[in-house]
Order: sequence, then C-alpha cells, then structure tokens
Amino acid sequence: MRKVFIKTFGCQMNKLDSELVLGRLAGSAYRVVADESEADVILFNTCSVRQHAEDKVYSHLGALKRLKEKRPGVIVGVLGCMAQKEGRSLAKLFGVVDLVCGPRRLAELPSLLEQCNGSGPVVAVDRDRRSSHRAVSFEAGRATGCRPTRHRAYVAVMTGCDNFCSYCVVPYLRGAEVSRPPGDIVEEVRRLADDGCVEITLLGQNVNSYGTGLKPGVTLADLLAMFEPVEGIERVNFVTSHPKDLSRELMNAVASFPKVCEYLHVPPQSGSDRILKLMKRGYTSAHYRELLLMAREIIPGVEIAGDFIVGFPTETEEDFARTLALLKDADFLNCFVFKYSTRPGTAAAELQDDVPLEVKRERNQALLKAQEETSLRKRRALIGSTVEALVEGPSKRDPSRLTGRTRNNCIVHFESAGDLAGRLVKVRITSATPLAVSGDVVEE
Ligand code: 5AD
Ligand code: SF4
Repeated sequence: MRKVFIKTFGCQMNKLDSELVLGRLAGSAYRVVADESEADVILFNTCSVRQHAEDKVYSHLGALKRLKEKRPGVIVGVLGCMAQKEGRSLAKLFGVVDLVCGPRRLAELPSLLEQCNGSGPVVAVDRDRRSSHRAVSFEAGRATGCRPTRHRAYVAVMTGCDNFCSYCVVPYLRGAEVSRPPGDIVEEVRRLADDGCVEITLLGQNVNSYGTGLKPGVTLADLLAMFEPVEGIERVNFVTSHPKDLSRELMNAVASFPKVCEYLHVPPQSGSDRILKLMKRGYTSAHYRELLLMAREIIPGVEIAGDFIVGFPTETEEDFARTLALLKDADFLNCFVFKYSTRPGTAAAELQDDVPLEVKRERNQALLKAQEETSLRKRRALIGSTVEALVEGPSKRDPSRLTGRTRNNCIVHFESAGDLAGRLVKVRITSATPLAVSGDVVEE
C-alpha cells in the first residue's frame, strides 16, 4: 500500500474536494497518513483566490526540493485552482512536481497517479471552462469517504461560477456553473445520515443560484425542502449566497423549514456603489441594506456574515468610509476582510492596483476593529441566556473543554466530561469574547 498525504489550502469546496480525493484513493491501493515525511505521495490542494494563498504553496513546494533529492521516488502533486491556473509551468518550477491536476479532473486522480513513472510530469487541466468533466464532488465517492468529522459533512450542490465579479479568478478556474440534480443530492444526504451525519452544509460558489440550467426547474428553496424528511439530519446550512440572488422565497424557506439554520453568509464586498459597479456585483449598498432588513424580518434569530475587499483599484477614503459604515450598520455575527489582490486575466487586472499596501493594511485593520466591537457586543448580549449547541468535539485551544455551535453559527465552549460530539446540548452562557461564548451545560 502506498502512503498518501494531502494538505489543503483555501475554501470549504477545497476541503470537500480533498476529502473526496482521499476517499477515492483510500478505496484503491492507498493509505492516508497525517505526516508528510512518511508519505509516498504528497498532494497539495491549492487556492488561487489571492496571491498570498499561492505564495504559501510556492514556499511549500520549494521546501520539498530537499526531500525530493533524498527520496526521488516520492510523487508530488499539485491539485485544484493553482494547478488549473498555472498548468504545466508548475511542473517545471523547482523540478519537484510530478502531477498537475485541475479541480474538474480530480475524479481521475487514481489513474493519473498510476501514470506518474518519472518520465515527465502528468498534467490534467481543462482549457475550456464549459468542458463536461464533472467535479469530483459530484461523484459518489462517499461510501469510502474520509469525512473529518463523522456527524458533519459538506455536500456540493453546484460548482463553478458565471458571475465574473471583476476581481475574481474563480469563474476562470472552477469553470461554468453546473448544478447537480436534486435527486442525487438527496440520495447522498440519505447515505450520510445513515452513516451518522446530523449536520450538512451545502456548498456552491454561488449557492443561491442553485438550479440554473436544470430541467425540470428547481431552486435552492425547493432543494432545502427535500431534506426535511431525511431522518437523522438535524441541521442544514448553505454557503455562500450572492446578494443579487438572495430572494424572498429563499428567506421564507429558511424561516419555515425547521432543519434549515438561521444563518446566511452574504458578502457585500464594498459599501461604495461606485466600487460595487467596478466590481460588477450587480447591486447597490442600499439594496444590500434592504436585504438585511428583509432577512431579519422574515427569519427570527437570523445571524449574517459578510466579506469585504479593501483597496480595490481607485478606492478612495470616501469609498472606504461607506464600507466602514455598511459594516457597522450590518451588525454581522462575523466578517471576513481581504486586501485586494490582482488576479491576472480578470477584468480588474486591467485597472492599476493603485491603493498602496500600507493603506490596504490600515483599512483592513479598521474594518476588523469595528467588527470586533460588534462581535463582542453581540456575544455579550447572550450572557445569562441558554442556547442550544450542536457539539463538534474538544476545543482546539483547550482540549479539556468541548466546542459546539448554535443554529445561527455562534461558537460555544463549555466544560464536559463525556464525548458528546454530534449531540445537542443546552448551555447557559456566562462569558463572551469576540469569537465565542462560554458557559455551563444545563441539559444534554
Ligand atoms: N482579492 C482579494 N479578495 C478576494 N476575494 C475574491 N477575490 C479576491 C481578490 N482578487 C474575496 C471575496 C470573496 C472571498 C472568498 O475572497 O471577498 O468573497
Ligand atoms: Fe467570485 Fe463573484 Fe463568483 Fe463569488 S460570485 S466566486 S466573488 S465571481
């Protein structure tokens, strides 16, 4: 048996892809190992969304040069978005890469690895963004899967993106939007439930445009209804939603289906209409604010998370002030903030990256600081109340405590002796930080 190690960079879709790759390999002649140094096959599943993500992979590849000199038989593979973006040129770099495999070719991995025989790099990428190769996530590789947590699973419902936001490389790398037939998804979720899974998170780059191109027509709201009868499944989440496709119908579905959790991840990206236009986002900041009002009116207890990009080309102090104002008004539970990074080939790459790094850093810090205040205020408001948490397992920071999440995605820490992973517990909240609340179990 050959030993395989995989390191994953980037988003949840990548985490799922890695899981399914390992499931597929473990089903053939491979054993998964947690330590790179004992592996015969080292795989990096990569991300290209920002230059920083790519730099991390380059430095890992550079570090493998020594290992490869000592053990030339080790196979090194670069998978995912960077593989798609850089193709064969990755194999030439450092001279350590034996295999380059794009995100839509991962299903072929076992046979691609067979082809790695030292006679030159094996390269599998699709040049056509509409090519009919299906993502590995769509394949039924689950039975042999290597799910990191038994009671939770990611489920791909669509891949690719046709939005072409001007800064974003995803539509070029993950390809055209393809939705998966609802029957296949429900079947997979049933199998997951039989295997002890209680919580699913539906994944799509643009999850709320789910259903486009499927016949008969189906929406994400229709799909959400289909998990209600699946015994064993307690919670259903979905990420990431695009503001322009966030419909009243979907909000009504979230409110009315008991299993669907009261949490939305809806990135505004900017609070300035001028910048939103340059980003090709298709909505204004006023529209985004209306969406928040509507969501909070329709879905009791809903929490919302956002993403912002700071330092998009031409962003002025005035533009940024609008972003800061939106972040404060939005009252997010969490917010992710990114410094703009030029992605070659995107529309925004035509614009000069004219906001100095120092200014991007300052704006990044200012948003994070404002969000920290909101995050702390919201979590302090929970002190004295009792929340229901789905237990994930031991806390990363303090393994003597357990961690869980509320339905609206707030992290909860508490003391407990037993292994309660996958169970629902009631916790009385006694303290709060910007990232989590802590308390005591009152009932299991
Ligand atoms: N630069 C910085 N951030 C980006 N994102 C996407 N593309 C870029 C880029 N070129 C951010 C967006 C998106 C998140 C996943 O990454 O905020 O929502
Ligand atoms: Fe990128 Fe926009 Fe598609 Fe999200 S919706 S993946 S930001 S192009």
